[in-house]
Amino acid sequence: MKSNDQWSSRFGFILASAGSAIGLGALWKFPYMAGTNGGGAFFLIFLLFTFLVGAPMLLAEFVIGRHSQQNAVSSYEKISGNPSWKWLGYLGVIASFIILSFYSVIGGWVITYLVRSFSGSLTGLPNSRYEQLFGDIIGSPATSLLTQALFLAITVAIVQFGIQKGIETASRYMMPALFVLFLVLVVRSLSLDGAMEGVAFFLQPDLSKLTAEGVLDALGQSFFALSVGISLMVTYSSYLDKSANLTGSVISVVGLNVLISFLAGLAIFPAVFAFGFEPTEGPGLIFTVLPAVFNQMALGGLFFTVFMALLLFATLTSAFSLMEIIVSTVTRGADNRKKVSWIAGLFVFVLGIPSALSFGVLADVSVFGRSIFDMMDFLASNLLMPIGALLISIFVSKKMKRTILESEVMMSSKAGQVIFPLWYGLIRFVVPAAIIIVLITSLLSY
Ligand code: PHE
Repeated sequence: MKSNDQWSSRFGFILASAGSAIGLGALWKFPYMAGTNGGGAFFLIFLLFTFLVGAPMLLAEFVIGRHSQQNAVSSYEKISGNPSWKWLGYLGVIASFIILSFYSVIGGWVITYLVRSFSGSLTGLPNSRYEQLFGDIIGSPATSLLTQALFLAITVAIVQFGIQKGIETASRYMMPALFVLFLVLVVRSLSLDGAMEGVAFFLQPDLSKLTAEGVLDALGQSFFALSVGISLMVTYSSYLDKSANLTGSVISVVGLNVLISFLAGLAIFPAVFAFGFEPTEGPGLIFTVLPAVFNQMALGGLFFTVFMALLLFATLTSAFSLMEIIVSTVTRGADNRKKVSWIAGLFVFVLGIPSALSFGVLADVSVFGRSIFDMMDFLASNLLMPIGALLISIFVSKKMKRTILESEVMMSSKAGQVIFPLWYGLIRFVVPAAIIIVLITSLLSY
């Protein structure tokens, strides 16, 4: 038996980091971001950023965590020998608080949809009803806050038990099941009358539709979907033993994530066009479109319930990882995990209240031209994550020796020999340059 602080196997680690990565980012946020930013053009830029910036960042975080065997905050300090670098770890913890605060709002919506689909009240309605229903659900302060609290309570309850039992066991079965159900959904969606218009929207890039803000959104989305830039993956890989193959893990996590985003687009956009919805709907996109697709399937009600249960699971595994980085930084090995988890959960809940209400009673409040919810998302995904990533890339190139990086990347990995020089170039030049250019251009365009 290994201690509770180590993954039981490399496979467990891949499942958990894929579990962190795959969640609402690919399944909920990607489709609506693509929808509001012109479809294919956004997808193309997102792919580019994922491969050239997000994936190298993921490997960088894995290398830092596995090399230091410490949590995010201590890693930077230990490797550089300079205490100021620990602020980079704290930046990640702060960003995690913010992300979890609005992530749990959507987690709450998923719970509501799961309960409603289970009770059968979501099937057989005319398509136009789904938009209204969604509006009613998210507009109700009581429902939003209660389900958000419930979502966080589940997260805390599981995280307090520690790494292995909590996260690893369940991912093994639920993620493949979600994947299979998604394939079924794609097939159904593609066979709807008028589906091709949606396929064209999603897969034919029209670059003239891309704005500076859309490019920043795509960069933010590539970080958000891979959970990078906030040192979360540093903490995760610190539980990994020295013989694990890091490049293989990066390839699996990035590959799965891109595949799921692609499937999500193929499930949503054909249906959007076939049913006459608007691709620019925003955060409600999957919640109005998917029930309508399931309606067109035999046993649609049952499938919809199963789908929502799996979506809730995928959402929870991402939430666990956010909670884990907060808890592991605060406890620093002390024996107060339980208490810290519940208190952190409470803080996150309070921070998330304005976001939850921004779809209802606070809908008219806008901060810098955005709703409170959008502002929180923008702050975390489009500012803190890119800035964190920029600093991490600088840390890797300035504070870590090439030989150490080389041995971490090549450890147990044949592909590492080819990947290392490529990655080393990307992380030192392409990653920082891309982030700086995108941030500056989009801030100037305000
Ligand atoms: N990657 C997760 C998702 O796509 C969200 C997340 C972001 C989780 C950052 C952890 C850290 O749903």
